Amino acid sequence: MEWNAFLLPALVLLSTATLLFISQSSNPFSIAQPKQEDEASSSSNPSSISRTFARSREDEACDLFVGKWVEEPRGSTYTNVSCATIPDTRNCGKHGKEQGYVYWKWKPDGCDLPRFDPELFLSIARGKKLAFIGDSLARNQMESLLCLLSQAETPTNIDDNKYTSDKSRTWYFPSHDFTLMVRWTEFLVQSEEIMVNGTASNSFNIALDSMNPRWADVLPELDYAILNCGNWFSRKSYVYDAGNLVGCVHCRDGRDNITSLTTSFALRSVLRAALRYVSQCEHCDENLLVVLRTYSASHFEHGQWFTGGYCNRTEPSSGSEGVLGGEVGEFRKVQLEEFERARGRVGRKKEKKKRRFELLDVTRAIMLRADGHPGEFLDRRWMKGFSDCLHWCLPGPIDMWNDLLLATMKKNVSLD
Ligand SMILES: *[C@@H]1O[C@H](CO)[C@@H](O)[C@H](O)[C@H]1NC(C)=O
Ligand SMILES: *[C@@H]1O[C@H](CO)[C@@H](O)[C@H](O)[C@H]1NC(C)=O
Ligand SMILES: *[C@@H]1O[C@H](CO)[C@@H](O)[C@H](O)[C@H]1NC(C)=O
Ligand SMILES: *[C@@H]1O[C@H](CO)[C@@H](O)[C@H](O)[C@H]1NC(C)=O
Ligand SMILES: *[C@@H]1O[C@H](CO)[C@@H](O)[C@H](O)[C@H]1NC(C)=O
Repeated sequence: MEWNAFLLPALVLLSTATLLFISQSSNPFSIAQPKQEDEASSSSNPSSISRTFARSREDEACDLFVGKWVEEPRGSTYTNVSCATIPDTRNCGKHGKEQGYVYWKWKPDGCDLPRFDPELFLSIARGKKLAFIGDSLARNQMESLLCLLSQAETPTNIDDNKYTSDKSRTWYFPSHDFTLMVRWTEFLVQSEEIMVNGTASNSFNIALDSMNPRWADVLPELDYAILNCGNWFSRKSYVYDAGNLVGCVHCRDGRDNITSLTTSFALRSVLRAALRYVSQCEHCDENLLVVLRTYSASHFEHGQWFTGGYCNRTEPSSGSEGVLGGEVGEFRKVQLEEFERARGRVGRKKEKKKRRFELLDVTRAIMLRADGHPGEFLDRRWMKGFSDCLHWCLPGPIDMWNDLLLATMKKNVSLD
């Protein structure tokens, strides 16, 4: 079915009946989804968007997301000895990677990003629940935060085994009554891997009109929800809305009537659906802070995961030239635009509750750190000898995402 063929009737229907389903969090109609032409027509400059956000806050004179990596002789606030929870696949020191990549810190132009203070974090987060929601990089950020915080208090794993894999974990810091979770979801929205003759095919059906319950079910408990999405759109994906096939990403199988979708269109669609879902969440805490973390791409050179790609750089890149080019810049732009759209919607009468949104615009900074991946030193076991140029060593550059998170939490901007 053609995309416009069902979008148009839905628009007409919706405009005549808006009041009927404004409170539906899983609105099956397509009004809020982008048309594919949005891609070309939206010409706003992502860096100016991010700067506008920073400027508009009176309490913040400096854009934390623009700066450079400078040497930090003290290294990280933790090591693979002082943090007991580093997964083997992130413990780059143990596997022989030269430790130079640890001795750098992010220096925003015009101000300093304070060194991570676990006591401060835990005092702000006292009595609260925080979840990283997304893919393996969400888990990677959780692992980093776990290490950073464990320098102040030893966490306890309190998994209830509802989801029995490594993909969802819950940790508790008893003296601060703080709960830290990760909830795995490839696409934020509901998805299923397509099985071919009983074998996983690495292609997916994704449904824009429902959220993955692994995180949606826990959302009403949360004070902080840190979302990300993007890296899984490298797979072939069939995108459905209200049961209709909208189109397919990376379809090369010649099926006649499937509309071909770009990755950024698919990313835009799921982000719009997910951010709308959180802004309309009826049972969520009124102080819920929703944080969108921008794209972190891999740094494979001369190949990819399974084609001999590697990442053996030993220093951060200095300039920011080129790091926001291509798909990286495109994905980030889509994320900033959908973030701005969600934040702009807050306060509209249509939304039952106000919702606070913040951005962790890590893309520019992290793309300068090709030196901080496990690379060839790890993963001989689970990656069967391939390099990992996507995830981040611990300690390592990804710790800076939590410096930025703490800076964001410190603000606790009032809604009124
Ligand atoms: C920690 O990393 C160092 C290298 O910095 C390595 O020599 C050591 O074996 C690692 N220790 C553990 C417990 O992983
Ligand atoms: C599935 O298995 C059947 C029987 O072995 C075979 O004929 C068919 O080609 C397989 N389909 C695919 C898509 O591999
Ligand atoms: C493609 O669409 C046309 C017109 O709607 C229809 O007649 C045809 O059967 C469809 N082909 C496939 C393979 O679905
Ligand atoms: C990275 O690996 C490539 C291919 O093995 C090699 O040619 C290059 O010299 C290496 N660079 C560094 C900095 O080790
Ligand atoms: C933010 O501040 C309000 C009071 O202004 C407080 O009730 C709330 O718990 C704080 N939220 C977080 C997440 O720190």
